[in-house]
Amino acid sequence: MLELKNLNFEIKSENTSQNILKNINLRFENNKIYVITGPNGSGKSTLVKLIMGILSPNDGEIIFNNKNITNLSINERANIGISFAFQQPITFKGLKVRDLLDIASGNKNDFNMICNYLSTVGLCAKDYIDRQIDSKLSGGELKRIELAMVLARKGKLNIFDEPEAGIDLWSFENLTKIFSSLKNSITIIVSHQQKILEIADEIIMLKKGEVIKKGSLKDILPFIENNKCFKLRGNNE
Ligand SMILES: Nc1ncnc2c1ncn2[C@@H]1O[C@H](COP(=O)(O)OP(=O)(O)O)[C@@H](O)[C@H]1O
Ligand SMILES: [Mg+2]
Repeated sequence: MLELKNLNFEIKSENTSQNILKNINLRFENNKIYVITGPNGSGKSTLVKLIMGILSPNDGEIIFNNKNITNLSINERANIGISFAFQQPITFKGLKVRDLLDIASGNKNDFNMICNYLSTVGLCAKDYIDRQIDSKLSGGELKRIELAMVLARKGKLNIFDEPEAGIDLWSFENLTKIFSSLKNSITIIVSHQQKILEIADEIIMLKKGEVIKKGSLKDILPFIENNKCFKLRGNNE
C-alpha cells in the first residue's frame, strides 16, 4: 500500500510562493489501477514526481508498504520497486532493445521472455530484439519499448504520466491490456483518456492542486461535464 499523508508542495520565487499541491491525502492499494485526472496545470505530474522522488514535498509523508520513503532518493525508491515510465527510454550509442530489457529486469532474459514483453506492447520480437535504440525508431516505437521496460522491471508500484501521448496508430485497447496485465502491483496512471479511465478501480480528480473528487467513472463523470476547463479525450484525439 502507498499512502500520501498531508502532502504539500510549493514553489518559492523571490517574493512570492505558489502552492502547487495542497494537503493531499490518498491511499493506493495493491492490485488496483488508479487514474489521476484533471485540468492542465492541476498538479498531476507534480504529484507523481513526488511519489517517484524527482521532487520533495514541503510537508507531509509518503509511506510505501509501511516504510516512510519521503526522504529516499529516486534510486533508493527504484530499488524497492517503484517504477516510472519516462516519456522515452534513455538512449546510449550501441544499445539494443534486448539490452534495455535486461537492464530493466536486472538479469539476462531469454528469447521467450523478451518475445513476451515485446508482443505485449505490440512489437514483433524477431524484428526488434536486436534493433539499436536510436533516432531511426519512431516516437511510437520508443514509447512501446519504454512500456516493455516497465513490464520487464516487474515493479511493485508502476507510475505512468500520460502514457497515451505519442502512441499513434496503436489502439488504446492494447494499452489498457498492458495496465491490466500488471499484477501484484499498484498502478498509477495520469490520463485524460476515457478508455483509460474506464479501467480504473478508482479515479482521482485534481483541480488547482487539490483532490476535488475520488471514485468510479460514474461518480466522476458529472464533475467532468460541469468543469468547463476540462474535457475527456476520446480515441481519436
Ligand atoms: N518548476 C516549476 N516552476 C514553476 N511552476 C511550476 C513548475 N513545475 C510546475 N509548475 C506549475 O505547477 C502547476 C502544476 O503543474 P503540473 O504538475 O505539471 O500540472 P499537470 O501535470 O496537471 O498539467 C502548474 O501551474 C505549473 O505551471
Ligand atoms: Mg502533466
